[in-house]
Amino acid sequence: MTKQELHSQFGPKLVTTLPGPKARAAVEADSRLISPSYTRSYPLVAKSGRGIRVTDSDGNEFLDFAAGIAVNSTGHCHPEVVAAIQKQAAELIHISGTDFYDENLTNLAAKLTAVAPMPGPHKFFYGNSGAEAVECALKLARYHTKRQQVIAFYGAFHGRTMGALSLTASKPQQKRRFAPLVPGVTHIPYPYVYRNGPADPTAQEQWALNCARYIEDKLFKTTLAPEEVAAIFVEPIQGEGGYVPAPANFLHELRAICDRHGILLVADEVQSGAGRTGKWWAIEESGVEPDIVCIAKGIASGMPLGICMSKAEIMDWLPGSHASTFGGNPVSIAAALATIEILNREGIANAAKVGAQMLARLEGWKETHPLVGDIRGRGLMIGIELVKDKATREPVTALRNRIEELAFERGLLILGCGETSIRLCPPLILKEEEATVALDILEEALAEVEKQHAHMGELTAAGA
Ligand SMILES: Cc1ncc(COP(=O)(O)O)c(C=O)c1O
Repeated sequence: MTKQELHSQFGPKLVTTLPGPKARAAVEADSRLISPSYTRSYPLVAKSGRGIRVTDSDGNEFLDFAAGIAVNSTGHCHPEVVAAIQKQAAELIHISGTDFYDENLTNLAAKLTAVAPMPGPHKFFYGNSGAEAVECALKLARYHTKRQQVIAFYGAFHGRTMGALSLTASKPQQKRRFAPLVPGVTHIPYPYVYRNGPADPTAQEQWALNCARYIEDKLFKTTLAPEEVAAIFVEPIQGEGGYVPAPANFLHELRAICDRHGILLVADEVQSGAGRTGKWWAIEESGVEPDIVCIAKGIASGMPLGICMSKAEIMDWLPGSHASTFGGNPVSIAAALATIEILNREGIANAAKVGAQMLARLEGWKETHPLVGDIRGRGLMIGIELVKDKATREPVTALRNRIEELAFERGLLILGCGETSIRLCPPLILKEEEATVALDILEEALAEVEKQHAHMGELTAAGA
């Protein structure tokens, strides 16, 4: 198939200039009525979706490599998920697991136990969002250990409710004017090797280990009594912070520190879990077993569901300690059960396969594109860090944002993350051909920005 044929079969289909007239009107109405705290990068007004495609209100069809912020794991409106939702909605929409029983709460728990990253038995708490899964983990860790302090990492994003926000350390605007936050959180550096680590690759492993050792070598010797620490919260791959994977030895050292001091290790897999990295959980790659796992986003294909899974003995709180009216909603649970079927059958293996192909192509961009500083990730959780100069690694936030806009104008939906990175988090059912077309479009947008800025003398030559 020629490139042209590939693009006409698998590419976006734009029928208006962007934004089209209906989208423009919707954006205008939105600006009058909707909270200005949202962070829209470009004017996509979504109307319908199927697979990896989203159609806007003017009939333009986009390739969706954002997936509603890494949520539509099985693609938009997967027929099996839609059928499960429709069937459940016709039977029972709400009952509240807080006060009543529902067999599907245990059915879903059994499915998750079968794929958990730590040995069972497990217990499960159901909420509605990633932040609620994190809130539960924070409250549970304090309750179970009877300790108050927690450790989290710079660059972390754990959510926006007051507890989760207190753990978050991603962007100042997320916290500005919201203090006082929940006390007792200490942030320490995350092993962001590319940006903060040593340039010498042979020294990087030791540096990553030292990031973890800082806890015992510094914190526990100066400001924090280890017996007062309830938990360490870590994203095995930082999401919002820039799609930054934690080296395995760092995670192993966290586990060892937790074991030495009776601290719980909480893996926030809200973004990296549910098969996105080509394994059920990102932490599996390291072999480290967490005590608590936070789950949301991709687990129910877009229906709101947040889950806190723990080793059974940890969830020892008494009735009334924690609950949620809507948490574990029957329709969301039905969507999750259907999602798990699809992920186990094809989604996770496909994420590993197509993700590896994408990463192989993207690796080459470090040589051919002056703006591309680093390529990282696993499966279909891929980060591209852009820099003004490969030696100084100076961030280029405005250029990154411009690339997002240019991609949108060409029919590709992508999101930024961190200060200067692009994230690719498409549905896990992505076909190879769709991946090729999307990377062609992204490369075109990248090359256009590089051309403009090289022209203005703002970029140094590739590899310089
Ligand atoms: C790792 C991680 N934890 C927690 C959250 C919060 O999830 P939610 O926005 O569903 O509250 C997010 C959201 O991006 C996330 O990426």
